[in-house]
Amino acid sequence: MQERIGTIYGDTTSTVFSFASHRQVKRLDYVYVEHEGQQVMAQIREVKRISNVSLEKAFMGAGAEEEQKISAIAEAIGYRGRRGLRVPRTPFRQGSPVFLADEQLVRDVLGLLDDGAYLGLLKDLNIKVFLDINTLLQKHVSVLAKSGSGKSYAMGVIIEELMEKKVPVVIVDPHGEYVSLVHPNLESNELEVMKRFGVKPRGYGEHIVQYAPGQSHHGGDVPLYLDEVNLGLGDLLDVLPGRITGVQKGILYQAIKEVKTRKRVYLLRDVIEELKTAKSSAKWNLIPQLEELADMGLFSADATPMESLVQKGKCSILNLRGVPLHIQDAVVSHVLTKLFEARKANQIPPFMVVVEESHRYVPERGQGGAISADIIRTVASEGRKFGMGLAVVSQRPARIEKNVVSQCNTQIILKTTNPNDIKAIVSSVEGLTQSAADEIQRLPIGMAIVSGLPINAPLFVEVRVRRSSHGGKATAVVGEPEEEVETEEDTGDEVSEEAPRRGLFSRFGRQ
Ligand SMILES: Nc1ncnc2c1ncn2[C@@H]1O[C@H](COP(=O)(O)OP(=O)(O)O)[C@@H](O)[C@H]1O
Ligand SMILES: [Mg+2]
Repeated sequence: MQERIGTIYGDTTSTVFSFASHRQVKRLDYVYVEHEGQQVMAQIREVKRISNVSLEKAFMGAGAEEEQKISAIAEAIGYRGRRGLRVPRTPFRQGSPVFLADEQLVRDVLGLLDDGAYLGLLKDLNIKVFLDINTLLQKHVSVLAKSGSGKSYAMGVIIEELMEKKVPVVIVDPHGEYVSLVHPNLESNELEVMKRFGVKPRGYGEHIVQYAPGQSHHGGDVPLYLDEVNLGLGDLLDVLPGRITGVQKGILYQAIKEVKTRKRVYLLRDVIEELKTAKSSAKWNLIPQLEELADMGLFSADATPMESLVQKGKCSILNLRGVPLHIQDAVVSHVLTKLFEARKANQIPPFMVVVEESHRYVPERGQGGAISADIIRTVASEGRKFGMGLAVVSQRPARIEKNVVSQCNTQIILKTTNPNDIKAIVSSVEGLTQSAADEIQRLPIGMAIVSGLPINAPLFVEVRVRRSSHGGKATAVVGEPEEEVETEEDTGDEVSEEAPRRGLFSRFGRQ
């Protein structure tokens, strides 16, 4: 027997109705009404307590025992027809009974999967929400919210799930926070809720290798080398530390051209030597810059092969912490381009690339340039053809290129308060109702609005607790900055050099 909780009254439409309830109901509860011969599911948008206690009576201390009535406004989601979700076309009838939706109905109408990447539980219900792995890899995902609201935590949940399913992952990690995935989550307050979510602590040491470009070391990292062979003018201009004049550009171009005529394979040193023979005195400012670049150890003739970054079951973290922003940009551009080419040529398996702080690497036009923007845009629009999934994470939704966000089929939205960011989210997320948009600013930490699952109705999902340790703690929440604040503080969870080496890929043992 279904539990009858109320009766429809007042004006209705085919999408919204009010009902009187004799029972306490809450916002976001799922209910249903028999309408047009179907069980039409709806979600409670607002609950009102109606009382005839007057101001005077309230002053006299009365009111508490007086009869109070509950009125709720519900928004129709629809019913499951043979060809997917259908919505009613006639207004709901006054006097119709309203029932509480049970788990089966919720699952059916929302079209929830029972396998895939386990993201969390449907709010207030014990129903697991899974994201489809193929959809993630082919149609991309975005995680958007203000700082401290649980983006990296949720991204970590998805990465754990991909590792469980042996899907390769490459993480662009500007804060060096993802290496904590190697450790099991032993936070005492999080251990308590693991049972409710049905997860156990687990570290992913045997899946993870952390890379750092050139000379930037974080202990336990493997150096990441970009290909030094036959660098072009553009490659060098991308990474040179200082400003380059037109004349300097000219002599650098000339030097590369000269080297090319003499050598089939040349390295950065060869370009420097050639430059030394130039007649122009503009070289005296340029040579030290190139030498500085050579000393950074960013390039090597023995470059990191893409086949080693992307392997079944492996998660490669590109730790860019402490690396100057323009070098980060060049590294991301270079590595993603190589990965895309390797994936197109089927030299590496399908995989997902996670770009944290993605507004830095693919800013909205007019918000400053980034050389990595081109390749990220390409992956967003063409990655689906090749099984190269993109996950963009950002605390400034208004500042990432809109086209990239709108290419993401799955959108995970957490608490956001900046009006421009909310506007950007609403404009790029399909099927986001006005009431869901209003909820964005009220979401508690760890609660997400997820859209783009098999159906278009956004779901309120309590993101599950992490199996592995979350590394973003030290930079989180403090002051809840609206604007991005660059912190180079310790993000915690640095891996000690003594960590035992074990497992397939790991440079870090399990703890
Ligand atoms: N789903 C969750 N369950 C439990 N705690 C969470 C959850 N999401 C976020 N948190 C807490 O909030 C803090 C900030 O989350 P984080 O993901 O680092 O924020 P940001 O959005 O800045 O990336 C975390 O350190 C963690 O303590
Ligand atoms: Mg974060």
